[in-house]
Amino acid sequence: MVGRIPSDSQLSTSQFNLVGRSVVTLDDITASQISYLLRKASFISEHLPEVSHAAAGKILATLFYEPSTRTRLSFETAMLRLGGHVIGFSSAQNASVSKGESISDTLKTVSNYADVVAIRHPKEGAALVASKAASVPVINAGDGGHMHPTQTLADLATLQSRFGRITDLTVGLCGDLTFGRTVHSLIETLCRFGHVKFVLVSPKELTMPQYVLDRINASDSCSYEEVTDLTAVIGDLDVLYMTRVQKERFFNEDDYLRLRDTYILDADKLRLAKPTMAVLHPLPRVNEIATEVDDDPRAAYFEQVKNGMLMRMALMSSVVGAPLPGFADDSDENVEVHA
Ligand code: NCD
Repeated sequence: MVGRIPSDSQLSTSQFNLVGRSVVTLDDITASQISYLLRKASFISEHLPEVSHAAAGKILATLFYEPSTRTRLSFETAMLRLGGHVIGFSSAQNASVSKGESISDTLKTVSNYADVVAIRHPKEGAALVASKAASVPVINAGDGGHMHPTQTLADLATLQSRFGRITDLTVGLCGDLTFGRTVHSLIETLCRFGHVKFVLVSPKELTMPQYVLDRINASDSCSYEEVTDLTAVIGDLDVLYMTRVQKERFFNEDDYLRLRDTYILDADKLRLAKPTMAVLHPLPRVNEIATEVDDDPRAAYFEQVKNGMLMRMALMSSVVGAPLPGFADDSDENVEVHA
């Protein structure tokens, strides 16, 4: 599918400059810079061979204090596909934190080795602490139940390629809205572009935190409703963003077991949805999307995975200052995006 990513003709290319910038939340960069990253990722998807040496000699450190498959491998593949190198650890047990080292000390150390750091940590705020201690850009790859900005970049690229826009959409978010950091980041960012109606579908125990609702309330053109029944609203949605119940953030196993299968999207429920609806999920899924949905053209979650890698390539090449051969930012024109 082809879409048009709006660009801002008032801005010069220097205002897209992200060199040296940490991204703890997407609030750290401007809406125009987010549009620029979408254009850049679209360019990369069409020019993988041409960009394959762009970041030669640059080193990414992945500091993952919490489990991950997609996000860590996606960051690492993104740097490798830009011609750079990767160091890091994939669990806290393998790192000096197990000897009692602070995040700040680890980041001051790793800043000597790497040109950019991607950090995932179970505590909210850890990425901010890391970014203050580091002398190289730090990208938040998920801090507790707080934010996950690069997943949001993947989500935005998927909406852009499916609908040709990231505004004027009715977006349902379903499942664990309390602890699911991906939905917090996505709402925060969509509110900046505006004109989105959010339908928040969750059990009463897993509703959206107030600070995210405040964000929607602060937007002139966005609104929300909170519901518990997915089948009652699925027919209204352009996007259904399913989430996993975040077992690791529950205090009590019985609550998790009681709530984990509240919503299961299957072929029967999908029959009630628009033929053009897009089903997103940051993955990993547990039971919340039946595998029979995977072959439905509305399933967009494996596209999201690819878009995540492309957006991480766009972001990392930007923050390490690795220009992409052939990518002239067309700030005076709209640029075509291909799924
Ligand atoms: C998400 C995360 O870690 O927050 N996964 C991901 O990064 N793709 C969602 C989840 O774990 O449920």
